[in-house]
Amino acid sequence: MIETGDFAFEKRLVSPVEADEDHALEKGLRPQTLQEYIGQDKVKENLAIYIEAAKRREEALDHVLLYGPPGLGKTTLSAIIAHEMGVNLRITTGPAIERPGDLAAILTNLSPGDVLFIDEIHRLSRAVEEILYPALEDHAIDIVVGKGPSARSLRVDLPQFTLVGATTRAGQLSVPLRDRFGVVQRLELYTPEQLADIIRRSSMILGIPCTLDGALELAGRSRGTPRIANRLLKRVRDFADVIGNGEITEDIARVALDRLEIDHLGLDSIDRRMLGMIIKGYGGGPVGLETLAAALGEEAVTLEDVCEPFLMQLGFLARTPRGRCATRLAYEHLGYPIPEQSAPMDSGQLPLVD
Ligand code: ADE
Repeated sequence: MIETGDFAFEKRLVSPVEADEDHALEKGLRPQTLQEYIGQDKVKENLAIYIEAAKRREEALDHVLLYGPPGLGKTTLSAIIAHEMGVNLRITTGPAIERPGDLAAILTNLSPGDVLFIDEIHRLSRAVEEILYPALEDHAIDIVVGKGPSARSLRVDLPQFTLVGATTRAGQLSVPLRDRFGVVQRLELYTPEQLADIIRRSSMILGIPCTLDGALELAGRSRGTPRIANRLLKRVRDFADVIGNGEITEDIARVALDRLEIDHLGLDSIDRRMLGMIIKGYGGGPVGLETLAAALGEEAVTLEDVCEPFLMQLGFLARTPRGRCATRLAYEHLGYPIPEQSAPMDSGQLPLVD
């Protein structure tokens, strides 16, 4: 059966977006200190300095914006920041704060120095954002009391606190909000070696024997994303228990991931169907996103948010003003013959259409 829509989006093993069943797994695996946290070296080095400086001055850490693709550890880093600063962490998301009063309630309950983490901060409403500005700048909020002509604005002082905002779409953040973050850090996709270290650490915590080659095999198919790596580790463990002796070796990982239809680059069946449809159905493209989604029985948003960023990063897909195109690398990866009258062949990144 072909799954469609949001359901498929959440159930995909290689989706970087958090699914319900990831939550408990990730919670148990989260590193608590910067030292335990693997990868993102530049971000870690910078944060270590800012945290040390704030602690020496006995001040709250400046507001921090973390941005980058989903699944790379933004929530984990916010928890580490709170832990390293020795303060409480309060976690919420942009869409959960519906009205200004919701945010006022959160802010007035913070203790001095606390970290407030707002995930998907680009989804805050304008009205809520307006409350946030004076809170970030002057540690105060203006609450309107009463209605009509007798309404008055009351200024309520807040404790010093640190906002850690996280977003996958930094470009959608309003400029005034972005300007209020003193520290802005971009998280990058992880290298296979870093992911293998994360997998080995997770397997130790979970008590799953895993060889270095087994971890590297998993890592190479995890799309640079710890969330996917940890999810695959859990799935492959079942294969190791049933068809092996419980240890995740290179062979077991390869057999398991082949069965799960995740190829050696981390493409799953939806990615391959998407590229296959562009190549076979539309002569390599260009084809519009909506047309492609309808042809595949998928939601356009699934293709755009989950398939495309990764396929574009691999250089398999190009977005042109006239639509999506498969590249020479995509033809090669899927084993299709490269058409004769194609565009320049000297670059693997160029679409095969004019
Ligand atoms: N688990 C998920 N992300 C991690 C990271 N960056 N370091 C260590 N463990 C992790």
